[in-house]
Amino acid sequence: MQQASHEREAWGSRVGFVLAAAGSAVGLGNIWRFPYVTGQNGGAAFVVIYILFVLLIGMPVMVAEIAIGRHARRNPVGAFRKIAPKGLWPLVGFLGVATGIGILSYYSVIAGWTFGYFIKTLLGAFSQSMTSEQSIVVFNQFVGNPLIAIGHLFLFILFTAVVVMGGVSAGIERWVKILMPLLLVLLLILTIRSVTLEGARKGLEFYLKPDFSKLDGGAIAMALGQALFSLSLGMGAMITYGSYVGKQDNIIVSAGWVCFFDTLVAILAGFLIFPALFARGLDPASGPGLVFVVLPTIFAEIPLGSFFGAGFFLLLTVAALTSTISLLEVTVAYMVDEKKWRRKPAALFMSCLAFLLGIPSALSFGGVDWLSRMPRIGLGFLDLMNIFMGNYSLTIGAFLISIFVGYKWGMAGIRAEVEQAGAVFFFRKTWTFLIRFICPVAIFAIFVYIVVTKNYF
Ligand code: PHE
Repeated sequence: MQQASHEREAWGSRVGFVLAAAGSAVGLGNIWRFPYVTGQNGGAAFVVIYILFVLLIGMPVMVAEIAIGRHARRNPVGAFRKIAPKGLWPLVGFLGVATGIGILSYYSVIAGWTFGYFIKTLLGAFSQSMTSEQSIVVFNQFVGNPLIAIGHLFLFILFTAVVVMGGVSAGIERWVKILMPLLLVLLLILTIRSVTLEGARKGLEFYLKPDFSKLDGGAIAMALGQALFSLSLGMGAMITYGSYVGKQDNIIVSAGWVCFFDTLVAILAGFLIFPALFARGLDPASGPGLVFVVLPTIFAEIPLGSFFGAGFFLLLTVAALTSTISLLEVTVAYMVDEKKWRRKPAALFMSCLAFLLGIPSALSFGGVDWLSRMPRIGLGFLDLMNIFMGNYSLTIGAFLISIFVGYKWGMAGIRAEVEQAGAVFFFRKTWTFLIRFICPVAIFAIFVYIVVTKNYF
């Protein structure tokens, strides 16, 4: 049964898993996606709902995924197959693997921009004061150039492939330990500059004063999707990472830390972006370009701005990299466990797929007109991928995972796993209630609402 277990890597230490899982969770979702999704959905009220979803849905599903992974010691497809050998449950794993490739494809486009902005900042492109109009022009030229866009996509997938080919544990563990705290420090410095800009107040109000009248069903669905995306839930990333977790670790405590770090970074990113945005008179609903347009306008106003700016984009690149690694790792673990491929060819094959699938996304910011604004839908290809893969697919996945753990694997099964080696199952009763009732019902209700109101996006 345990055919692949001898090849299975393991995290080197207890904190190793928390750091790697936090590395997967903390990424562009926190710093790129959270502020613009919040901006498009009315600000503070959205943030309140977001935090509720992290606590009531994100946290329980995270525990469920890690427990499934650690119990089965397999990739998502194999894990479902092992716990429930008959029936259709492995399809949930397949959905996860497909979603992994899908997210990896467009996520790497944005991550490539981040790397490009690092180089740009380093070369002094933002050392002069810039108006927001100028910043928008720079951004549009950068992302609208097909060669630059595809080139950066290629580079970034290459970085990811190289790390995953070499195996994950030691390298990644060591890196995230240094880089994550550094990201936090830089985030804090830039945030302090942002909140002390003249005119920052309006941004803080937008971010902190909830106006619940702006919350419609679409915004609530977005908040749920964002929570799952940001925590890397619903597609088996935490099942895969959980499969390398030692039996002595307390899953509840580890999951708690990951959720805490992830939410902290997202909230901080809001404090960084909104004050600067309002101070510069930009539109909070302007979409995926938000971070890239807003930040360069404040670099010239900080001592050593180019230095901090370059540092920031470099660390954002690294944060994105620790996320793409987890996305690719899901698909590689699947090929290695189930198809008996070796790690290197599996990583190479899957990253080629992601690269090819990423090309239309890379061209959807002016590179090719019809991809930038697709007929009838009116959205760009990347936006569409982001909505379907990064929102709906994860939501369906999280729904099925909570049903699986709540009713199929059952409480006795998961309890035995969590309580291994004498670990305490903190909040067990609350958790049971959440995973069996709140998670599936809330997720289902949101879905029905979207379908009935045709509020797809
Ligand atoms: N959580 C990552 C982020 O916020 C994105 C991600 C989603 C990574 C799903 C893995 C799985 O950037």
